Amino acid sequence: MFQRERRSRAYYDGRARWYDSTNRIAAWLRGASPRRERRRAVRRLNLKPGDRVLEVSVGTGTNLPFIAERIGDAGCIVGLDISRGMLGVCQRKLRARHIEAGLVEGEAAHPPFADGAFDSVFHHGGIAEFSDRGAAIAEMFRVVRPGGRVLICDVGVPTDRPLSLVNRLLLRLQPEYDQPPPLESLPAAAQDVRLSWYFGGAWYMIEFNRPE
Ligand SMILES: C[S@@+](CC[C@H](N)C(=O)[O-])C[C@H]1O[C@@H](n2cnc3c(N)ncnc32)[C@H](O)[C@@H]1O
Repeated sequence: MFQRERRSRAYYDGRARWYDSTNRIAAWLRGASPRRERRRAVRRLNLKPGDRVLEVSVGTGTNLPFIAERIGDAGCIVGLDISRGMLGVCQRKLRARHIEAGLVEGEAAHPPFADGAFDSVFHHGGIAEFSDRGAAIAEMFRVVRPGGRVLICDVGVPTDRPLSLVNRLLLRLQPEYDQPPPLESLPAAAQDVRLSWYFGGAWYMIEFNRPE
């Protein structure tokens, strides 16, 4: 494991208990409703009942109810994360909401899943902190089935509009997020690539398909 990943794991392990509340405060400062924005991102996955979905860097599992409501009981959710502390909070939230998901401790650049194991792969926050974003994206592409969909979302600097004052201040607190969306790291074979912005114009959404 790289030094950067070790640091991330220690950071999120220490922050897991407060992660959800600080996230809600950041969304509130941006003037965005976290539920609405997260649901909006999940909707872009075009999920169907029975789908198998992987969330890379699942954290405390805040997106999982939105995924579960789309894939139903016949579907399957797997969450991967480097931090045991975040997965612990996630597990408790899932139990309280009666949602079934497999939680796996591991790194985005080395997910222990077979080629094409999922219909969709979702990443929502964290990729700016990875030491090798290209390797993580290549793995998302590998584990999604041919014809499947990948959605990568994170805080970033918009390429098509000025950043608001609040977002500039929030980026000062986490300078690693002060960068454009990682379009240059997508696999050459990615199809139907689309970039859009949400969460008060401070988060990007990159969606693409794996060719059939
Ligand atoms: C900003 S949080 C996002 C959590 C969740 N997806 C959400 O939407 O709230 C980033 C997550 O990425 C995880 N993470 C950081 N580096 C990672 C890596 N190299 N591989 C897998 N997960 C990682 C952290 O432990 C943390 O849970």
